[in-house]
Amino acid sequence: MQQMIKDNIYYVGVSDRRIKDFENYIPLTNGVSYNSYLIIDNKTCLLDTVDKVKIHDFLNNVKETLNGRMLDYLVIHHMEPDHCAGILDILNIYKDCKIVTNIQVVKMLNQFFGIDYSANTILVKEGDILDLGEHKLKFISAPMVHWPEVMVSYDLTSKILFSADAFGSFGALSGNLFYDEVKDDTYFSEARRYYSNIVGKYGNNVVNLYKKIKELDIALICPLHSYLWRKDFNLIFDKYLSWATYTPEEKAVIILYASMYGNTENAAIELANELAKLGVLNIKVYDISQTDETYLISEIFRCSHIALLSPTYNLGLYPKTKSLLDTMCNIGIRNRTFALIENGTWGPIANKLVKEELNKLVNVNIIDQNITIKSSLNDKNKEEIKELALKIKEDLN
Ligand code: FEO
Repeated sequence: MQQMIKDNIYYVGVSDRRIKDFENYIPLTNGVSYNSYLIIDNKTCLLDTVDKVKIHDFLNNVKETLNGRMLDYLVIHHMEPDHCAGILDILNIYKDCKIVTNIQVVKMLNQFFGIDYSANTILVKEGDILDLGEHKLKFISAPMVHWPEVMVSYDLTSKILFSADAFGSFGALSGNLFYDEVKDDTYFSEARRYYSNIVGKYGNNVVNLYKKIKELDIALICPLHSYLWRKDFNLIFDKYLSWATYTPEEKAVIILYASMYGNTENAAIELANELAKLGVLNIKVYDISQTDETYLISEIFRCSHIALLSPTYNLGLYPKTKSLLDTMCNIGIRNRTFALIENGTWGPIANKLVKEELNKLVNVNIIDQNITIKSSLNDKNKEEIKELALKIKEDLN
C-alpha cells in the first residue's frame, strides 16, 4: 500500500497480521503496522524502514513510489529492528543513498549489521535541518522514547511531525491511515497497552519530548506504528501526558487476584460485590494467572485504585504476583492506591512481601486494612472485606 498523505509525502509502510507477539512477548490480537514515509522532492528521502517479515512488500512500495527515481536519503529515527531491518536492503538497492542520522545510530548500525557506513552518513543533531528542496526536515532528539538514539523530525514546510514510536499503537492498518477516518473503539486501550509496556518506564523523557513539540505548529503527526493524526491532537496528547506523568486516567478500581484453587478468587469476587453494593461503578476483576501481564500493566496505568489479592507460595510470593510486582517496579508505577488481601493455609506472608515491593514505588498509598485469609473466606474475613470496600469507596471520593 502506498498513499500520498500530504504534499508529495507518501505512506510506504506495511501491516503485519501474522505476528502473534510484539517483541516476542506482547500478544497482539490485530497485528501491528510498521510505518515508513517517502518524501518525493528535489531530493528523495525515505524515513525509516520496516520489520524483516515485510521487507518484500515494503521495497515494492518504495520502488513504486520512487517511480524510476533514485533514493537520495534514508533518515533513521530509531534503530529497533521493527524499523531498521530493511536498512541493508535499501542500501544494497540504492547504492548512492546517504544515511541521515545521529552518532548513536551509527554505533548501532555497526552493532546490528557490522557495517561502517560513516563515509555515506550525514550526521545530524538537535536543530539541524535537512533541505530536500520544498521540504525541510528539522531534527529533534527524543532520547529514551523509546531507546537512547531516538530522534523525531518536523517538516517545516508541511508542518508534519514524524514522531518515531511516540503516539503510536498496536493494530494493523486497513486502508484508512488517519485516526479520524475510523471508528476504532479499541484504539486508546491498545495505545495505552503499547505505551505502558514499551515506553512506560520513560515517562520523564516523554514529557521532555512533549515540551519540545508543543510549541510546533503541527498539521499532521506520523508515528512509526498505527494511525496518523491530522486533527484533534489533544485526544492523543492528553492521554500521553497522563500516562507519562503516571496520572491515573480514571478514578476507578481494578481487582487483581492470584488464586491456585479458587479461594482467593472468592475473596476478589466478594470485594467486587461489596464495592458494587456501595455504588462503585466500572469495577474490573482480573485473574492475574489467566490475563497476560501486558493487559494488567495497561489497566494499572488506567486506574487509580488497585486491589491486589495473592496467596503465599513456598513462604514467598506466588510467581505471577512476583512477576507483576517486578514489572511494576521496573516501569516505576507511581501515584496509585492499593488494597491488599493475602491468603495462606500455613505461614501467610504475602501482604508483607507485597508491601515491601510496593514501598519501592513513588507516591503509593496502601489502605490500612490488613486482611488475611486462612485457606478460605470465613465470616470475619467477609466483614473485613466489607470494611475494606468502604475504605476504598471513601478514598475514591
Ligand atoms: Fe517500534 Fe521502539 O520500536
